[in-house]
Amino acid sequence: MLSRDVAEKVRNFHSTFEAYTPTPLARLNNLATHFGLREVLVKDESYRFGLNAFKVLGGSYAVGEYLARKLGKSITEVSCDSLKSQEVRAAVGDITFASTTDGNHGRGLAWAAQQFNHKAIIYMPKGSDPVRLENIKSHGAQCTISELNYDDCVRMAWDTAQKNDWVTVQDTAWDGYTEIPNLIMQGYTTLALEALEQMQAIDVNRPTHVLLQAGVGCFAGAMLGFFMSVFGKDAPTFILVEPEAANCFYASACANDGKPHAVYGDLATLMAGLACGEPNPTSWEILRDYPLAYASCTDDIAAKGMRILGAPIKGDQQVVSGESGAATIGFLNWIMQEEEGCEAREKIGLNENSKVLCISTEGDTSPQTYRDVVWFGREKL
Ligand SMILES: Cc1ncc(COP(=O)(O)O)c(C=O)c1O
Repeated sequence: MLSRDVAEKVRNFHSTFEAYTPTPLARLNNLATHFGLREVLVKDESYRFGLNAFKVLGGSYAVGEYLARKLGKSITEVSCDSLKSQEVRAAVGDITFASTTDGNHGRGLAWAAQQFNHKAIIYMPKGSDPVRLENIKSHGAQCTISELNYDDCVRMAWDTAQKNDWVTVQDTAWDGYTEIPNLIMQGYTTLALEALEQMQAIDVNRPTHVLLQAGVGCFAGAMLGFFMSVFGKDAPTFILVEPEAANCFYASACANDGKPHAVYGDLATLMAGLACGEPNPTSWEILRDYPLAYASCTDDIAAKGMRILGAPIKGDQQVVSGESGAATIGFLNWIMQEEEGCEAREKIGLNENSKVLCISTEGDTSPQTYRDVVWFGREKL
């Protein structure tokens, strides 16, 4: 499901969008030296489709596949242009795509629906940033902030969509709803394939460690699945990073009974994109077995990551990284620099030979929060 062949097919589809261009891979040599590592590579998803986050890769691919299947075609037989043509529009009729989002997925879905002249209705959990809401609306979607936490909002959106005959494009799965979430995971593999090619171009043929942030775990599951299928037994060590307030994979790993465990409540964290309390069951099956370590981070860790990337050591490239995007660099800083991180660092095998890949999954998607953190030293929600 996440093989290189699949990734090539997905990337071919994404390449048909005018906005498509591979996002940069920043090679932070001075930060690597500072941390005592061989390489620190950061894929900068703030450049993705002009939308400031990687998420659009999933929504656009799922919508593309949905439309292609409705036409009785394979994704390889359609393109962005063909799907927006009047003939296709007439053949598939009016479609409304619906979803819940902390911001990035909903913006990506709204954008994709707009590309193909369809409607999108997006719900956000309570406490969502109004700027993120406005960004979603700017792509012609209807969008509202609810009084529910993320997981309850997903259920409400699904029920509403079912009653209205809308097509739910949700970036998490549950019993009986797996096809679209799996397509979304496949959509993310464009990013992994680009990273692989970019690393090979600079002779880093295989990262030794890949740090992955998780909300519902689709992103981390997709990256891990891709790298496992490419590298097999030589696969890198994976480290999963979550906010403490929504650490469902960490809690599940601690429970050690092979089952996914949810965490409940407001899931209040600065890392809005990672504020999900229920693991996606498909990702859980991947993320249960392969990461070597599960990290549960307080908000200040992500805040430090944002500052480290935003104000780099002279000579290193700047990466504008938002709260969820910078969580992994924040964790890398903690484990390499703090006394408390010493034992874990050794167990995970992070040392002067390590080539570490992180993905800054978003830019400053909440500009005010970004400035509060990077300019004015904010450390928590
Ligand atoms: C910026 C960002 N990074 C990472 C993630 C995590 O993705 P997932 O929910 O698939 O684990 C999200 C999810 O919305 C996100 O917005």
